[in-house]
Amino acid sequence: MFTILVTNTKGGCGKTTIATGLAGAFAQTGWRTVLADCDRQKSSLGWASRRPAGAPAITPVNWSKDTQPLPPKTQLLVIDSPAALKRKRLDELVRIADVVILPVLPSVFDETTTRRFLSTLDKLKPVRKGKRPIAVVGNRMRARTRTAARLNKFMSEVGQRSVASLRDTQLYPASAAAGLSLFDLATRRAANFVDDWQPLLSFIDEIKALREG
Ligand SMILES: Nc1ncnc2c1ncn2[C@@H]1O[C@H](COP(=O)(O)OP(=O)(O)OP(=O)(O)O)[C@@H](O)[C@H]1O
Ligand SMILES: [Mg+2]
Repeated sequence: MFTILVTNTKGGCGKTTIATGLAGAFAQTGWRTVLADCDRQKSSLGWASRRPAGAPAITPVNWSKDTQPLPPKTQLLVIDSPAALKRKRLDELVRIADVVILPVLPSVFDETTTRRFLSTLDKLKPVRKGKRPIAVVGNRMRARTRTAARLNKFMSEVGQRSVASLRDTQLYPASAAAGLSLFDLATRRAANFVDDWQPLLSFIDEIKALREG
């Protein structure tokens, strides 16, 4: 089983959007995919409950109180975390994860919180020992804006941890309302925005290959 943790202590930065998107991407390729929701708001569970019958299956599990058993033969686990995450729980989730994804919005507030959160993560043993790769994903980028330029600067400062930038589009809230990810939409418009995810998916594939090899 391969486990992806999507986390950041900043609220509203796109954790659920990225967790549901990754679950959608892997389910689409035939992986037995589970989406664990650690947030009491249960946004990911709500998304999964709206998912139409014909869409590639994603099994939701409620981890909002604690870690629950997974269905047998789970191949891919995506964990959606809440913004308010106690240190002990963060420790536990990072230990379970193979890779940690941190979304960040183009805003000085998000960048400051994310910098602080990165240094918290760096103190955790598996991260300190280089055993948990961390990927920062810029989210809600609007080309040619000053805020996009500052997020690009932030991404260059975090160096190789910066792996992808997702553009701002109403396709995210619109598809989420229907329990779908962009990977479930068979339109040219969606395919254009799906391209943004390729560097992130390639990064995850590389880590997966390393773990399996
Ligand atoms: N790239 C994007 N383009 C447009 N809207 C987006 C994008 N990413 C996220 N959103 C919207 O921003 C809002 C917050 O996103 P999301 O719920 O994924 O954040 P979160 O980090 O999970 O929030 P919380 O901390 O409350 O769990 C949602 O309405 C979502 O649809
Ligand atoms: Mg969320």
